[in-house]
Amino acid sequence: MKGVILAGGLGTRLLPLTRVTNKHLLPVYDKPMIFYPIQILVNCGITDILVVTGGGNSGDFLRLLGNGKVFGLKHINYTYQEGEQGIADALRLAEHFADGQPICVVLGDNVIETNIVSAYQAFRKEGKGAHIILKEVPDPERFGVPVFDGDRIVAIEEKPKQPKSPYAVIGIYMYDATVFDKIRKLRPSARNEFEITDINNQYLAEGLLAYSTLNGWWTDAGTFESLRRATNLVAQGGANKTDVAGTI
Ligand code: DAU
Repeated sequence: MKGVILAGGLGTRLLPLTRVTNKHLLPVYDKPMIFYPIQILVNCGITDILVVTGGGNSGDFLRLLGNGKVFGLKHINYTYQEGEQGIADALRLAEHFADGQPICVVLGDNVIETNIVSAYQAFRKEGKGAHIILKEVPDPERFGVPVFDGDRIVAIEEKPKQPKSPYAVIGIYMYDATVFDKIRKLRPSARNEFEITDINNQYLAEGLLAYSTLNGWWTDAGTFESLRRATNLVAQGGANKTDVAGTI
């Protein structure tokens, strides 16, 4: 399986911090933000990784990450998203890299306490479809939110005003190669973005969307509040732990 980190977008919710740099290069405690999602993939044993960058400072990713030596990698692939048309639009650029293989996608501003090894193994066993990861949060209206019938997901709603469950779909997604056909069928949402939630709903309609629940804390880091939370959580106890089960 190959890994994809999505680190495009403008990071406007962090202005003026993002005026002269990319959001994913900002510090989360003692490391640049993008180190945490890369480590999530490396902890699964994924070594073939594509970083999708964007904006005016994409060259700095190369200067920072090089060929990934700090992660024990021999090589990192890079590509560039023109415009900021959403997460699914950024993922579209990974088709050539994926080359028909399944992929694990991690959003560049997601930080977790533990790991996703058991979800990764479950997806490999499933062999097709998609696998998403959920976490109970106090503010689900900020995220993609699953709607349940019993323990079955029947829909995912993007940033619903009145969330129908207390769970967020976190920014770690595993997809088979059909994801790129699904992206081709997408239309922009009301906020004019190609939504990853619409992709997950397409898998759901095919009966091919599995899920796990994350152990330990999860946060994004794309707002001042969540960046502060991420920094505090990492400072208090560290992230990307491999000595505990991360997903159930
Ligand atoms: O963090 C999990 C949440 O991420 C999910 O629960 C939501 O369903 C999903 O839509 C997303 O919501 P956000 O509003 O937090 O996404 P945001 O626009 O902040 O983008 C998250 C990352 O995706 C960002 O750090 C970089 C990447 N991205 C985003 C856009 C809009 C790109 O690479 N290109 C883009 O055009």
